[in-house]
Amino acid sequence: MKDKRITLAWTGASGAPYGLRLLECLIAADYRVYLLISSAARVVLATEHGLKLPGGAAAAKELLVKHLNCDASKLDVCGKEDWFSPVASGSAAPKQMVVCPCSAGTLASVAHGMSDNLLERAADVVMKERGQLLMVVRETPFSTLHLENMLKLSKMGVTIMPAAPGFYHQPETIEDMVDFIVARILDHLGVEQGLVPRWGYDQRNA
Ligand SMILES: Cc1cc2nc3c(=O)[nH]c(=O)nc-3n(C[C@H](O)[C@H](O)[C@H](O)COP(=O)(O)O)c2cc1C
Repeated sequence: MKDKRITLAWTGASGAPYGLRLLECLIAADYRVYLLISSAARVVLATEHGLKLPGGAAAAKELLVKHLNCDASKLDVCGKEDWFSPVASGSAAPKQMVVCPCSAGTLASVAHGMSDNLLERAADVVMKERGQLLMVVRETPFSTLHLENMLKLSKMGVTIMPAAPGFYHQPETIEDMVDFIVARILDHLGVEQGLVPRWGYDQRNA
């Protein structure tokens, strides 16, 4: 039976709506989500979405559950130094993790195994356990250092997925563009989704 537990990390790159929508879809798909939120991610969430998360993990969870109107038992918000969280150890961590959105800073820390906070440690654990790590990186343009860090991680089996929505599904709203990225992430995770029409189907049937 599939382990329906997953680690989701929000970092301080632009793209808070991707992270929120992904959380909503994973919980709707009956996943138990361990959510890690960097300090910068809180600033971005407030700037881009007007959602001001309170400092503590429990209070942040309460607000998110209310905001998404989701099942509280499916969400576990972990503190930055909650070293006793399951995500901190290979013996208990979910085998899948998504960093979305992923900043250039977190990209660099993970590429160099810093493990300086729970978010970086969780990514390190998924890599050492040969699990599935997806990093939805957002920056433009990319420096050579960013590209090198992405190549390094890609060679280790990490999926680097730029937050670059396509336009061939003819998006009409920002939500359509957000769903384009979230749909690709869910596809890679093996989570069933019907957020956007699949390439080739609608065009052929038109
Ligand atoms: C509104 C806002 C948008 C930002 N957008 C990006 C971005 O798209 N990509 C990026 O790498 N950093 C971006 N930053 C800068 C990062 O938040 C900053 O480098 C931070 O140290 C990243 O920390 P973290 O990786 O621990 O979240 C942004 C910051 C703010 C406040």
